Amino acid sequence: MSKPERVKILLTEDDVPKDFYNIAADLKTPLAPPIHPGTKEPVPQEAFYPLFPKEVVRQEYSTERFIPIPEEVRDALLRSGRPMPLFRATRLEKHLKTPAKIYYKYEGANPCGSHKPNTAIAQAYYNMKEGVEKLYTETGAGQWGTALAYSTMLFGLKCEVFMVKVSFEQKPYRKAMIETYGATIHSSPSRHTEFGKKVLAAKPDHTGSLGIAISEAIEKVVTDPTHKSKYSLGSVLNHVMLHQTVIGQEVRAQLALADTKPDVVIGCIGGGSNFAGIATPLIYDKMKGKNNAEFIAVEPASCPSTTKGKFEYDFGDTAGMTPLLKMYTLGKDYVPSPIHAGGLRYHGMAPVVSNLIAEGMVKPVAYEQKEVFEAGVTFARTEGIIPAPESAHAIKAAIDQALLCKKKNEAKTIVFNLSGHGLLDLVGYQRYFEGKLA
Ligand SMILES: Cc1ncc(COP(=O)(O)O)c(C=O)c1O
Repeated sequence: MSKPERVKILLTEDDVPKDFYNIAADLKTPLAPPIHPGTKEPVPQEAFYPLFPKEVVRQEYSTERFIPIPEEVRDALLRSGRPMPLFRATRLEKHLKTPAKIYYKYEGANPCGSHKPNTAIAQAYYNMKEGVEKLYTETGAGQWGTALAYSTMLFGLKCEVFMVKVSFEQKPYRKAMIETYGATIHSSPSRHTEFGKKVLAAKPDHTGSLGIAISEAIEKVVTDPTHKSKYSLGSVLNHVMLHQTVIGQEVRAQLALADTKPDVVIGCIGGGSNFAGIATPLIYDKMKGKNNAEFIAVEPASCPSTTKGKFEYDFGDTAGMTPLLKMYTLGKDYVPSPIHAGGLRYHGMAPVVSNLIAEGMVKPVAYEQKEVFEAGVTFARTEGIIPAPESAHAIKAAIDQALLCKKKNEAKTIVFNLSGHGLLDLVGYQRYFEGKLA
């Protein structure tokens, strides 16, 4: 009798990765340094000290291939659900009548519902170790704000979140969740900062953007007279990418248990972190000849930073308070339409992911909101999990790849990152069923 196919591939407690993998060590073209907007000179590490703890800045600039994960961080990751399961989507495969094998890494199986705690836990820990008392941040759809509220709660820090107004109104239970963990939350643009007031004076009904919310959070830190607060970012920067590599390292071990190798690896991209998290360890394997996978990054057609943007230096925020980063960007003032995938409404893209796209290692694609929700509903009706609208972008690409396999009769192994569940995004699904999605 042949061995039954594995459909739920679990690792043990000991398999929580012991290091973060840093692809900066292996990129063909080294990462361009952040530069000062005035002098255009590279920004020294010390310039980031007012915003981030020293260890985080060190990691941001590091080109070491492996960075050990502190035991307290591993323990918190473990207690927050890691290692996360890898599932084989056999019911989706049957529905599509594809010979492809589809696997998904389920990052929603933790208290917060997304991959974001992987870096929130590490960042809260490093801040706590350096005596920081409070973290300020922005959030799009609310997943990141929730993860930081949760992680600061674990390490005894205070937390204040600026949530993009359109998402704040679309997803009201995020506020409740963030407050339950003990953090404070505002709709952005807000009247709590000078920049927020300026934006509201120019446009009182502004729907907000991640760039504006970042500016508000940074303003709070740089104007804090106690100097006991810092800023925390949930994506884009190198240290966030490397914290997320626990995902891909686990997937590598899980695919080995399933006795297969990846042919196609897919993730959605907002700032790039869940994609970098699943993809970069497997890209490292590809560089060493251990797989020959194709890597696909999926963005919304309404915020097409990598498919329509330019690869150039730009600000990370809208007010222009950050150094310039070399990345794919639509320009710091770009305001995406109010799609429900709030976490993908960012004008730029992580320098790491931008670099991999520019090198041709990663292929970007863009999809419209309706086809993405259609894919999300197909997934829910076959696999049972209602995906976050962000993650549904990856599902859409996985379905397209599986249908391509059907056409060509190829039994490829397709792996995608299901970066979060959509249980607090149900208004989006409701609007989809009512035919009201833009
Ligand atoms: C569930 C989910 N997936 C993906 C993203 C996009 O972010 P990133 O590209 O950093 O993974 C977000 C951001 O909020 C999210 O909440």
